[in-house]
Amino acid sequence: MILSIDTSCDETAAAVVSGRRVLSNVIYSQVLLHKKWGGVVPSIAKRAHEERIDLVIAQTSTRWINFFDFIKAIAVTIGPGLAPALEVGIKTAKELAEKFNKKIISVNHLEGHIYSPFVQNSKGNPKIDFHFPYLVLTVSGGHTNLVIFEDHLKYKVIGETIDDAAGEALDKAAKLLGLGYPGGPIIERLAKEVDNRDFYHFPRPMIEGDNLNFSFSGLKTSFYYFLKKMDQEERIKKLRELTSSFQQAVFDTLIIKTEKAIKKTGIKNLALVGGVSANFYLRKLFRQLAKKYQGQVLFPSFKYLTGDNAAMIGVAASYKAQKNLFVSDIKNLDRLPRMSL
Ligand code: KG4
Ligand code: ZN
Repeated sequence: MILSIDTSCDETAAAVVSGRRVLSNVIYSQVLLHKKWGGVVPSIAKRAHEERIDLVIAQTSTRWINFFDFIKAIAVTIGPGLAPALEVGIKTAKELAEKFNKKIISVNHLEGHIYSPFVQNSKGNPKIDFHFPYLVLTVSGGHTNLVIFEDHLKYKVIGETIDDAAGEALDKAAKLLGLGYPGGPIIERLAKEVDNRDFYHFPRPMIEGDNLNFSFSGLKTSFYYFLKKMDQEERIKKLRELTSSFQQAVFDTLIIKTEKAIKKTGIKNLALVGGVSANFYLRKLFRQLAKKYQGQVLFPSFKYLTGDNAAMIGVAASYKAQKNLFVSDIKNLDRLPRMSL
C-alpha cells in the first residue's frame, strides 16, 4: 500500500492505494476560505494545509491498526503548484518517511492527472483495457496541456497554455458576470439551457497554423469589452447565451487543438483529465472526436476527478514503485519533458 499526499493548491488531500485501487481517499477543500477573494490566496492556503494535513492523513488511515506497517512508500506531489502549499505536503511526507523508515516517491501533479483515468475504486472498477499511446488533454484551473502518454511513466508535453488555463478562463468569465467561484460548473448549468450554444461566436484563440499551444487571455479580454458594451439588464437577459458562447469558444479551441495533435502524431486514443473534464458537454465533444478517428476515449471517474485528489497521485506512484523509482531527497520541483512537434 502507498500513502499519497497532495497539497498543490487549495485542497488538502491524502489517499491510500494498492496498485490502481483506492482503499481510502480524503479531501479537505479550502474553496470556502478562498471564495470571498475570488481566487486562491497562497498564504491562506499554506496555513489551511498546515492546520489540516495531520487530520486528513489520520482520517485516511483510520481503517488500519498499525497503519504504517502496511505502507511501502509515501508519495507526494512535488509540483507544479503553489510553492507555499506544496511545501506543506513535502515536509509532512519527509517527516513521516523519517519517522516510520519509509521510502518517498515524488510525483508531478500532471502525472497524477494523466493517471486519473486509471484509478479504480476498492472493487476494481471501472475495468478498462488500455491501449497506449494516448493523447492526454489536461484541463483544470491551473493547467491546460496536451501530452503524449507513450507508455507507463513516459510522457511528452506537446502543447500548453501560454497564459490562462481553460478552467481559469471559465472562472474569470463567470466572475465578470458576477456568478461566483468556481465558474466552470455554473457556466455548464446555464449553457445547457440555450438552443444556440454559439449565439455570439466569440473568437477561437490561436487556432491558425500548426501550433499546439493554447492562449485564453485574449478571449477573456474580448469578453470583458463585449460585456462593457451591454447594460446590466441586457446581460441578465442574455446570461445563458453569454455563458454558453464563451464556453463554446473555449471548448472549440480545445477540440481543434486536440484534433491537430491527432493529425500530427497519428495517435487516436484520447484521454480528457482535470477538473474541467467534469463537464458533460466537453466529454460529448471529446467522444465525438475519438469516434471520428476510431480511437478509444478515457475519462476519470467522477469520484476521482473533482479537486486535486491524492488517489491519482497514489496510482501514478504505484507504477513508479514497480520500477523502484524512489527518491531519497526531494530537491526541486520537476517538470515533465517538453517536445515541439
Ligand atoms: O482539477 P481542478 O479541480 O483543480 C486544479 O488543478 O485546478 O480544476 C478546477 C477547475 C476550475 O477552473 C473549475 O471551474 C473547473 O475545473 N470545473 C469545471 C467543471 N467542474 C469544475 N469546468 C467546466 N465544467 C465543469 N462541470
Ligand atoms: Zn490539478
